[in-house]
Amino acid sequence: MDAAEFRKRGKEMVDYIADYLEKIEKRQVFPDVQPGYLRPLLPDSAPEEPETYENILKDVEKIIMPGVTHWHSPYFFAYFPTANSFPAILADMLSAGIGCIGFSWASSPVCTELETVMLDWLGKMINLPPNFLAEKNGQGGGVIQGTASEATLVAMLAARTKAIHRVISENEKLTPEDVMGKLVAYTSDQAHSSVEKDSLIAGVKIKQIPTDDKFAVRGSALRKAIDNDKATGLIPFFFCATLGTTPCCSFDKLLELGPICNEENIWLHIDAAYAGSSFICPEFRYLLDGVEFADSFNFNAHKWLLVNFDCSAMWVKKRSDLTRAFKIDPIYLKHGYEESGHITDYRHWQIPLGRRFRSLKLWFVLRMYGVKGLQEYIRKHIKLAHEFKDLVLQDDRFEICADVIMGLVCFRLKGSNKLNEELLKSINNARRIHLVPCHLREKFVLRFAICARTVESAHVQFAWKHIVDLANELLKVHKQ
Ligand SMILES: Cc1ncc(COP(=O)(O)O)c(C=O)c1O
Repeated sequence: MDAAEFRKRGKEMVDYIADYLEKIEKRQVFPDVQPGYLRPLLPDSAPEEPETYENILKDVEKIIMPGVTHWHSPYFFAYFPTANSFPAILADMLSAGIGCIGFSWASSPVCTELETVMLDWLGKMINLPPNFLAEKNGQGGGVIQGTASEATLVAMLAARTKAIHRVISENEKLTPEDVMGKLVAYTSDQAHSSVEKDSLIAGVKIKQIPTDDKFAVRGSALRKAIDNDKATGLIPFFFCATLGTTPCCSFDKLLELGPICNEENIWLHIDAAYAGSSFICPEFRYLLDGVEFADSFNFNAHKWLLVNFDCSAMWVKKRSDLTRAFKIDPIYLKHGYEESGHITDYRHWQIPLGRRFRSLKLWFVLRMYGVKGLQEYIRKHIKLAHEFKDLVLQDDRFEICADVIMGLVCFRLKGSNKLNEELLKSINNARRIHLVPCHLREKFVLRFAICARTVESAHVQFAWKHIVDLANELLKVHKQ
């Protein structure tokens, strides 16, 4: 494909994407295919001779689209949202075109510098304490990681290094291996599974702190775990708090937990993967109070801030904590500007070396929506969640299972778990809308998450009527 053909095909692709997104609600939200559907539709090996672009494009509708779960359908209410907007898609095209690998300042100066400035903009939008920002030669700063899982892992590994150095400086007879074996991390019993996975990768013990009746970790519960563990010779070193848990969007009590972590030399990382975007609205910012006690904070702009995957924003109070943990400096990566104040080499802040020019997406989206446009978007989703909650509350056969604070509603039929499992199965088998469940304590619960950029009240009303129709059928069968 030469540049002339690329111009033509590129314009066609933009039309295809615009049509796909504009008409997405006509597509069935969840595909009909069975596992393994794809292999028989593809040749056994790559073609020896080049094929035509027309043939490839034909196969997109024939082979690819039948296997797509349409995350941007307004009938998609599963998991949490993944962001999608036209400015972000265009910026991603530009990023692909430039195609630089921005591991160091010299490897593409603007890739590093735009990221640093965008993370300062974003940090100010959520009113992060200034010591998390890079501006004015501060000690902190922001970075774009691929995912929240990676952000937690990076924080955990930096905390591990810091704890090992501290303990050995207090007792020089100990080796890093001695200390590693005693380190213990904590998180909520509602935390995302990625936190436990990160502890497996980091090779440290992790314990889940029991939550209260609002599914939040309280200071007293963390204090109890720390005291018990210290009494048996363990070294508490890391706590991952969650703001907006995956099952029910609950919020750990940062104002209670933060001072304990600071007192005990425990690195406090905050995972606000989904809910973090809402902190751009002043009325939700109170949920972040206590961030001043944290060492690192993360949220996924690619979930709820209209920036397409991947764009997981992470800030640290002391960037030297990361560079100390991850800095390896072969000669071929040196460039002579390493020590120039606020210039940072992001390769020391992350696990891989290579990194894409992701801040372009953020730059385009922040400029094209403005803070006000993004606030409106968040508020609209939360309003729709409340509309759904009110519909549920009007039917006394159903119950709401957790406070509705953001765009997620946890609900169920009053009755057995089996009944609710059957309800979810009939909803997802009908393929009109798509939901996923969670467990809240012993209860099987359905999660209704407002997800798509284009979801409106009419879709929420349709979804509820559809759920009620299926529940009616199910309850009829159960009565017989
Ligand atoms: C609270 C929380 N943390 C972490 C994650 C994992 O996100 P990622 O896919 O960015 O690693 C999720 C995913 O929904 C989440 O809800």
